[in-house]
Amino acid sequence: LDNGLMRTPPMGWLAWERFRCDIDCDNDPQNCINEVLFRDMADRLAEDGWRELGYVYVNIDDCWSSKTRDAKGRLQPDPKRQVLKFPGGIAKLARYVHDRGLKLGIYGDMGTYTCAGYPGTTLDTIETDAQTFAEWGIDMLKLDGCFSNSSVQEQGYPLMSKALNATDRPIGYSCSWPCYQGGLPPKVNYTILGEICNLWRNYGDIEDSWDSVLSIVDWFTDHQDIIQPAAGPGHWNDPDMLIIGDYGLSMDQSRSQMALWAIMAAPLFMSSDLRTINSGARAILQNKAAIAINQDPLGIQGRRLIKEKSGIDVFWRPLSNQASALVFFSRRTDMPYRYHTSLKALNYTKGTYMVYDVFSQKVQPMLKDTTDFVVSINPTGVVMWYVFPAAGWQAEAESVHFTE
Ligand code: GLA
Repeated sequence: LDNGLMRTPPMGWLAWERFRCDIDCDNDPQNCINEVLFRDMADRLAEDGWRELGYVYVNIDDCWSSKTRDAKGRLQPDPKRQVLKFPGGIAKLARYVHDRGLKLGIYGDMGTYTCAGYPGTTLDTIETDAQTFAEWGIDMLKLDGCFSNSSVQEQGYPLMSKALNATDRPIGYSCSWPCYQGGLPPKVNYTILGEICNLWRNYGDIEDSWDSVLSIVDWFTDHQDIIQPAAGPGHWNDPDMLIIGDYGLSMDQSRSQMALWAIMAAPLFMSSDLRTINSGARAILQNKAAIAINQDPLGIQGRRLIKEKSGIDVFWRPLSNQASALVFFSRRTDMPYRYHTSLKALNYTKGTYMVYDVFSQKVQPMLKDTTDFVVSINPTGVVMWYVFPAAGWQAEAESVHFTE
């Protein structure tokens, strides 16, 4: 969507995977969906180094609203629970978030109800809802597609795009539409999506497990010929939230999710408790080279180049200034695997290269394209490289800050 927003994949925090539809503020005040949770996350993003790295969106998901619209037909936070949930209303929360240099996202649903059963946006309430969000100072809308059908979606998603544009407030637009139509042509038209949405969920929901991450990676790579060309500045495929810092992934698997999301040019929405996140997960999420690769201004999504019988996959992403990124990913579950290859075997032809190892944070010895090398990849883990032609490296080194 050419609205000037999200020229690189959006980054921030999204409530759903970690905090779901916990509305029991009486008994679980720290974790329920209320104003306090979003203020806490805004504080963490602003004070713990996230904002400076680009994590600027604080996004509300389902279960924020009242079960009914107000007297004027507008969506509203639940008045009965307002004292506990959103005492100042969403506009006040937006001011709080904006005061910290951050942006506020909200959730709606193009259908009768949201997935958790709260009021949805029907064709006749699209303009009202777009207007309400703009008046509150919302910066991004995730529009889900539960309790809907293909014809309502086909009309509704483009109409909401127009309605948001008509508010004159820049609002990033995340469409779950393709996810509800199987993610593939002919039911899904990625040309239209790229014109009306800034990002879109192609596939099912992420859960807090390695199986879930793997199934998402498999779907995106199996269909990369269709999915990959759809991405670019202002319009991104969304494989769903980062679960790094939750309960389901080992440190190696956490690096794998970060590396694969970076190479896929995926939106980076963390869904973890930033108040208590451990330092290992934080270091992975704050890895400057991985973020720089994800945020590369060319905005070309990476692809799987090679799928080895041994269980090693190699991914490649072209970056600006002749740089590129490689991910060596192991699906193995036995022990670190010593993978033998050369840059030439990975289509590199420009002689000698500078290689920076993203997670060990070390510049490697210069590497000729014809030289065989070995990388040791941990089970369910990755080795990620930033690769640059040696000839131009001295000049480039000045502007590449992550190799310090
Ligand atoms: C759907 C979406 C999720 C989340 C829930 C909320 O399942 O795909 O990301 O928004 O609805 O109910």
